[in-house]
Amino acid sequence: MSYQMKIEAVRNSFRAALDSLTADSQAIEEVRVSYLGRKGKIAKLFALIGSIDSSERPKFGQLINALKNDCQSSFDEKVALLTAETKDSNEDSLDFTLPGAVYRRGSLHPLQQTMDEIKDIFTSIGFSVAYGREIDDDYHNFQALNMPKHHPARDMQDTFFVDDNTVLRTHTSNVQIHLMEEQDPPLRYIVPGRVYRNEAISFKSYCLFHQVEGLYIDKHVSFSELKGTLEYFIKRMFDENVKIRFRPSYFPFTEPSAEVDIWNEERNQWMEILGCGMVDPAVFENVGYDPEKWQGFAFGMGVERIAMLKYKINDIRHFYQGDVRFLEQF
Ligand code: DAH
Repeated sequence: MSYQMKIEAVRNSFRAALDSLTADSQAIEEVRVSYLGRKGKIAKLFALIGSIDSSERPKFGQLINALKNDCQSSFDEKVALLTAETKDSNEDSLDFTLPGAVYRRGSLHPLQQTMDEIKDIFTSIGFSVAYGREIDDDYHNFQALNMPKHHPARDMQDTFFVDDNTVLRTHTSNVQIHLMEEQDPPLRYIVPGRVYRNEAISFKSYCLFHQVEGLYIDKHVSFSELKGTLEYFIKRMFDENVKIRFRPSYFPFTEPSAEVDIWNEERNQWMEILGCGMVDPAVFENVGYDPEKWQGFAFGMGVERIAMLKYKINDIRHFYQGDVRFLEQF
């Protein structure tokens, strides 16, 4: 075997010994003595020098010295590593790499988030936010809105009666009347809130839901301002490219009236999201506003409907079951 091969053989067996070394101080000392010690394998290589051709001796010496240095420094490194490891596990040290405790945070209900978004959009264009009562009299929920007793339009809103004259409001439109009774025009409000209807519960209707009402009254208000306002709102709420359709409709408290649909790609159909129109002069008369002097538009939108379309939710009951698996997605 050439001396080069002998040197490499020592190097390789030393590496193997280091690789299998554990944090056992006796084993560490054994490896040190048998390789780096005074009578160790490396020292023994030096003894070979006599058997080597004199012209080769300087090169031989260099190779062994290099081996010795390499072995010493990798030995020191390995020992440092092993003793550091035992320190960590023996001592009560701080481990900054441990992940922290995770606290589960709640989130706002998707309906609240949707209403907040609606509020943000309308307040950014000058609307104020008002709230009104959920239990109201027949007058404010119906009659003042041009729906006298036995008006057929009442059939569309199956009503929960508290007594003969008191209802759980069927829409937020009752607050239009309160606002106009309490304040002089001009007015510019949105009214978010809960409404109640005695409907059969299904994937698309629930006995309570949310609406946001809008009311804008001033000296000169046109239907095109109504359209512009709602178009602006819908584009911000959904997407700049959403397809919108105004469809003529009927509400007793607006004239003319319309409903607004947006195109739903998934279902491949128009979906109604709100009703609107120019405030009927009869309503102005009921609250003591001069219909010759004042004009206005109003609208009312279903918050669940909007949230369902926006977040692709297929069953209205999800909003009311308090299932965290649903809620934590928002
Ligand atoms: N109150 C109506 C409903 O619940 C929605 C509505 C339609 C409100 C037209 C309005 C409006 O203010 O102008 O179906």
